[in-house]
Amino acid sequence: MAVFRNRRLLSTNSNRKDNYLKAEEAEIPDVKLPSAEKLLVLGGNGFVGTHICREALERGLTVSSLSRSGRPSLQDSWADNVVWHQGDLLSPDSMKHALTGVNSVISCVGGFGSNSHMYKINGTANINAVRAAVEQGVKRFVYISAADFGLINYILRGYYAGKRATEKELTTKLPYGGVILRPGFIHGTRRVGQMKLPLSIIGAPLEMILQHAKLLTQIPLIGSLFIPPVGVTSVAKVAVTAATDSAFPPGIVDVYSILQHSQRKST
Ligand SMILES: NC(=O)c1ccc[n+]([C@@H]2O[C@H](COP(=O)([O-])OP(=O)(O)OC[C@H]3O[C@@H](n4cnc5c(N)ncnc54)[C@H](OP(=O)(O)O)[C@@H]3O)[C@@H](O)[C@H]2O)c1
Repeated sequence: MAVFRNRRLLSTNSNRKDNYLKAEEAEIPDVKLPSAEKLLVLGGNGFVGTHICREALERGLTVSSLSRSGRPSLQDSWADNVVWHQGDLLSPDSMKHALTGVNSVISCVGGFGSNSHMYKINGTANINAVRAAVEQGVKRFVYISAADFGLINYILRGYYAGKRATEKELTTKLPYGGVILRPGFIHGTRRVGQMKLPLSIIGAPLEMILQHAKLLTQIPLIGSLFIPPVGVTSVAKVAVTAATDSAFPPGIVDVYSILQHSQRKST
């Protein structure tokens, strides 16, 4: 018998002594075969989206992305292994073709601007995506939302109203397969044109310190300033696990849970 685990082939053929695995030594076979999974990343050409595409490819998934501009300009070889669709979530019909045969969706679509624009991109566009995905029979949908930031919620009210409206739509339409990640600031290397911004120089040390200081977030008015930043590779890892592992619990995953899940071994 042959089983795959973490993309390694283990032989359990008892006729071959050299390959024989005693029951107590053998790892429990992983019944998931991730290569059969087809994942669509909405906004796969953005900061978080590119990291999610890479993480999913490394796990052997078939990966496609949809965004208004399609394939990003980066030359990295992994990008050749993603199917890049162009489409605008504000015109839901333009995403239908990208959903064919898709098992799970991760949405990284979001943005800033006027309050009405922020509501459209973080809310309307993603609500359209949830509805189209559910219509096409998608069973798992992960939405990259955002942690509450006290007073900032009021200043960016269109952004947060949009985020929460999408969360409500997702938990209503996909109560058992909708996962909402709520990171605070996400650090990593962000590309802006040809430039690379190393956000981890500040983000990583703050993450180290603040992940153990949850109590500080309860200080009135300024508590949310102590929400730990989280690395983009951690967000990507948890998002892909949430999208492909049916045992991953549905609902809201806060910053601290993102950090915890990211430290677990990937399947
Ligand atoms: N970065 C952070 O620190 C942070 C923190 C907390 C939460 N988040 C959330 O995480 C998500 C990803 O953030 P990010 O920093 O990776 O953002 P980003 O780099 O700006 O990526 C946004 C993506 O959305 C796509 N997009 C925008 N409008 C679209 C539309 N109408 N239809 C289809 N695609 C559209 C963009 O591609 P096109 O322009 O080609 O369409 C891009 O791929 C967002 O929802 C954001 O709110 C980010």
